[in-house]
Amino acid sequence: KAQNLALTPPMGWNSWNTFGTDINEQLVKDIADAFVKLGLKDAGYEYIVLDDGWMAMERDDNYNLVPHPDKFPNGMKEVVDYVHSKGLKFGIYNCAGATTCAGYPGSRGFEYIDAKLYAEWGVDFLKYDWCDTENLNAKGAYQTMRDALQASGRPILFSICEWGDNEPWKWGEEMGHMWRVTGDIINCWDCTVGHGTWASLGVWPIIKLRKDIRKYSGPGHWNDFDMMEVGNGMTPAEDRVHFAMWAMLASPLIMGNDLRSASDETIKTLTNKEVIAINQDALGIQAYCHTNEGDMEVWAKPLANGEWAIAFINMGQKPLQLDFDWAWHPVKDDLSGREMSVNTIEYTIRDAYAHKDRGTTKVNLKGEIGAHDIMLLRLTPKKE
Ligand code: GLA
Repeated sequence: KAQNLALTPPMGWNSWNTFGTDINEQLVKDIADAFVKLGLKDAGYEYIVLDDGWMAMERDDNYNLVPHPDKFPNGMKEVVDYVHSKGLKFGIYNCAGATTCAGYPGSRGFEYIDAKLYAEWGVDFLKYDWCDTENLNAKGAYQTMRDALQASGRPILFSICEWGDNEPWKWGEEMGHMWRVTGDIINCWDCTVGHGTWASLGVWPIIKLRKDIRKYSGPGHWNDFDMMEVGNGMTPAEDRVHFAMWAMLASPLIMGNDLRSASDETIKTLTNKEVIAINQDALGIQAYCHTNEGDMEVWAKPLANGEWAIAFINMGQKPLQLDFDWAWHPVKDDLSGREMSVNTIEYTIRDAYAHKDRGTTKVNLKGEIGAHDIMLLRLTPKKE
């Protein structure tokens, strides 16, 4: 696979959660403009990814994929060039199967032809899905596309979209840069909607299902908790939790909302640089669940230079009074062996959403957390 990509979790936008297959040239250009205008580019978002629905139903006489003539009347290169002209990167979608999940031509049997075409267009990112894959071996199918991308000569970030049945975390590092860990996300805090053979999951069901595959994630190879639903209808507090947890889990931060009409509050959440810095930390360690007691969840993520990110989440519907004695609650990550030594080191505490300091670990942490809201903290060893 292409090296030196995704050394921190990839950041960008994907069309699927809001637009489905209803995508077109103008939408991509508007999203690229919004990246610049709304400060998303400055905050670190880079990839604009067109999901399923960009193609015509038939390949051409040379077996090349054809952009849908009504949606992309000037071809795909025009769109890619526009995105590049804004200093951003462009991503596209296809599928390991014979057809994509929405029924467009898949890459099965055409992997090298497709990879070459993407490289010619200047594509920087490929999301590669898993529908219509009868009798295909998952690892082998992703390997074929990995090799095809490699042969194209262009560094292309490879985003594996297998929903967990074939445990992509076990082989994903070798094949690509990120892999989905569940079926599709839906826009809700705590629900699961079954569709027969698969289910879509809300924010907390996704987190709970895959909290234990931390060790597979790291620089260049990430557990992908799916495109975000921030701005798609949960409360602002729930959006803050969702965004903070994707940051804590070192998941790719791929927005899934309509940036053209996003509220100021949504953009404020998505561009919070203190939260993003936790996600983009150089160690790339996925957070672990420290405690869950009553309505409170505590999550911890070791950061570079002995720093820590700690999240207190109120899972309940009533405000929660926090009174947390650091010395009584050891923070130790068994996976990385890192621990917070509050007895010998004093840590200063910074609240990433309130943008204010909250004293040090010498005293109990106090404060109120609203319903379905979060207090997200960054702790820094105090210099002597
Ligand atoms: C699958 C993927 C989604 C999206 C759709 C497109 O469901 O998991 O993220 O790409 O296909 O059809």
